[in-house]
Amino acid sequence: MLAKDQPHSGAAASNGGAARPPASIDFPTLDGLPPLAGLCTPEQAMAPGLTVAESVQRLKREHYLLRRLAECWLARLTAEPVYELKMAYSLHAHLATEHAGAIRSRVAEMRTPPLGLEEVPHPALERLLDETRSAPDTPALLRAVYQVVLPALIDCMRRHREDTHALADQPTRRLLRFALLELEEALDYGHRAVECLAAAEPAAATDDWLQLLRDCITAAGGIDGTGETSDLAPPRRHSRQPLALEKSPRRDDRFPDPYNMGVHAEQFLNDPGFAERDKVLMMYYKRLREIDVPEMMATILIESPDKPFGFHRDMTRQLWDEARHAMMGEVGFRSLGIDWPRFVMVNFTWSKGLNEQLTARERHAVLYFIEQGLMTRTGKRFEWELGRDSGDRLAELFQDFDWADEVLHARIGRDWYTSGFESQKDAIDYGSECWDKVLINWDQWKAEGLTEHRNWWPDLYREASRLRGETPDPKTLAFSTTYEQTRADLKAIAANA
Ligand SMILES: [Fe+2]
Ligand SMILES: [Fe+2]
Ligand SMILES: [Fe+2]
Repeated sequence: MLAKDQPHSGAAASNGGAARPPASIDFPTLDGLPPLAGLCTPEQAMAPGLTVAESVQRLKREHYLLRRLAECWLARLTAEPVYELKMAYSLHAHLATEHAGAIRSRVAEMRTPPLGLEEVPHPALERLLDETRSAPDTPALLRAVYQVVLPALIDCMRRHREDTHALADQPTRRLLRFALLELEEALDYGHRAVECLAAAEPAAATDDWLQLLRDCITAAGGIDGTGETSDLAPPRRHSRQPLALEKSPRRDDRFPDPYNMGVHAEQFLNDPGFAERDKVLMMYYKRLREIDVPEMMATILIESPDKPFGFHRDMTRQLWDEARHAMMGEVGFRSLGIDWPRFVMVNFTWSKGLNEQLTARERHAVLYFIEQGLMTRTGKRFEWELGRDSGDRLAELFQDFDWADEVLHARIGRDWYTSGFESQKDAIDYGSECWDKVLINWDQWKAEGLTEHRNWWPDLYREASRLRGETPDPKTLAFSTTYEQTRADLKAIAANA
């Protein structure tokens, strides 16, 4: 019998609730085996911890913070020009949403209906996150998130782990441990990002505002509400006029020709006259171009606050996958020694067109339409086979996982988009219809001097040939199909997702 069981043993129970025998540490386990499945010592287990209600209250506050942080990252992703930050926001939003999901499941197990997970736990916490979302610029946002809000949340979760009972509330301690692992990594990234941007933004410009955020946390009694709370949250500053959602994508200097639609990647990939290993260059371009899917999906999520949590969890996961695919393209070029910002013109015409011209539902319809198309024989399987046959092991691996992820995305589309339609065919037709509505102003962009639609393929191919120590093949070098010739069938451009 384990020491911790003594107070609850039959003998103790049968004496009609009489006083417990004095706690003892002298009950050895059999053969000296570690007690309590290794969770903690008997002494620790005999000390009381948080009640169910107390633990739930902290979970709800942690849940609120995680969801609002995800919102802050997603709301800023599209208009954030810096590629690395777009990618980090994608990951951190996904992690926060996953851990929010774990908390939701745990709260549902804890005998506290109604769950109240959509309620604001304290007005000062709402103000804290409203202010953060409305941070006036990127350095201020990074400092608010990674120097104030996330560290405070992590502290709160650490304390929650310490304060709650190791045995009685083990499921909560477990989920907190996993959350902390990933949130600490996110915080580490954020600290490094703040340092990188520190030179651009003198810290003093936002110090005062960061103090306001800290005062919000104090007014809320701390993130976990264990301190003294106050109705006097500091007055709003940046959130007095909340920052509007900027839906037009922005890119940094490594995307110097974002309207360029001068190289028809799909046409090249589908031409049996070109070599597989040359097609890998075009596939890496297509992967990198997937950067526009997070830019588009983030705005769907922000404009769908009333959708169920499962919608947000699955779509944020998909958003992160698309960001990963873009980074696989980046890494692919890097592996070949190609300076991609110089040779590859990654456009934003897809996310820009959809974000500026379609509603959230219409954008989701287009995404669904495209992703169902990727499931055909000429879609993701074709790209994986191409990677396999190219001899480029990295391309094969990346396409293998890209394919797997896209199958998941097709399922997510079926789960969350098609439910409003009578049949899958209706859902696909509507997506096609919405896609047809998007105007791609090929000529106008050219007329306005936004792009020359320069054919950048020959330079990329020449560079790849130079690195291989080979003479370029004249026919491959001569590829010059643009998206202009196929603009009547805009669907041909669609394989971004
Ligand atoms: Fe992909
Ligand atoms: Fe996808
Ligand atoms: Fe994709």
